Amino acid sequence: MNEFKIASKIYHDYSFKEGNQHIASEYNLYHILKYAKEKNVTKVLEIGTGIGTILSLFQEAKKEGFLKISNYIGTEANEFCLEQIQLNCYNHDHSDLNSSIVSDGSQIDLNGFELAIIDGKAPYLEQVVTNLLSENALILIEGYREDQVNRIKSVLDLNKRPYDYFMRFSTWRNPPYGPFHQKFQAGHTIFFLNPTKNDREFCGKMRRLARLRYHGRKVVNFRSLVKIIG
Ligand SMILES: C[S@@+](CC[C@H](N)C(=O)[O-])C[C@H]1O[C@@H](n2cnc3c(N)ncnc32)[C@H](O)[C@@H]1O
Repeated sequence: MNEFKIASKIYHDYSFKEGNQHIASEYNLYHILKYAKEKNVTKVLEIGTGIGTILSLFQEAKKEGFLKISNYIGTEANEFCLEQIQLNCYNHDHSDLNSSIVSDGSQIDLNGFELAIIDGKAPYLEQVVTNLLSENALILIEGYREDQVNRIKSVLDLNKRPYDYFMRFSTWRNPPYGPFHQKFQAGHTIFFLNPTKNDREFCGKMRRLARLRYHGRKVVNFRSLVKIIG
């Protein structure tokens, strides 16, 4: 399976699950897989596992041989979500992904994460960015959490860590199923720590294309194109 098939399968499955109001968008699931593949990510941290959409995404990607993920740690404290994670991610898992859920950021007992996904309240965000990430890590902020983007920039500046980033709004329309009724899916902001020349060029290109993408999505549903070309 390619990244579109894995992301759309997981999004479709979770669209019909209990508590689906806050799941990650299909667009973001797809791009999480693309970034993780491009950077050979093996260790993932998610702040705000919710009902487990992104954990299932990595379990599926590992099972399908799409990614060589070895570790996933998520934070979640909500009782309802913890019950759903058990049902959705652990009762029938055949992926061999080494994963655990901790109640908050102070309990994360691993470091060197190459990808951190921020999808919930993150009181430990500064500590995560300072202490738990690999040299060339990616940080993806789901949706448009401007306050968290600003906190990340401040802590990276304070630590004098080189980075580049851009905000990627979605060019995909929401499918007819699922919890979201607005026209376009949610996008994300992505940070590249110690960016390579390619990373910097990519960020620059995406910033330059932002206006074109914004207008282009009104006439073309890029989801249909990606579905065809993979
Ligand atoms: C945006 S959600 C995280 C969604 C998660 N990444 C996913 O894609 O399934 C952020 C936070 O909202 C809370 N939350 C999510 N779904 C909930 C639900 N159905 N009921 C109560 N709290 C929920 C959880 O505490 C979670 O950490």
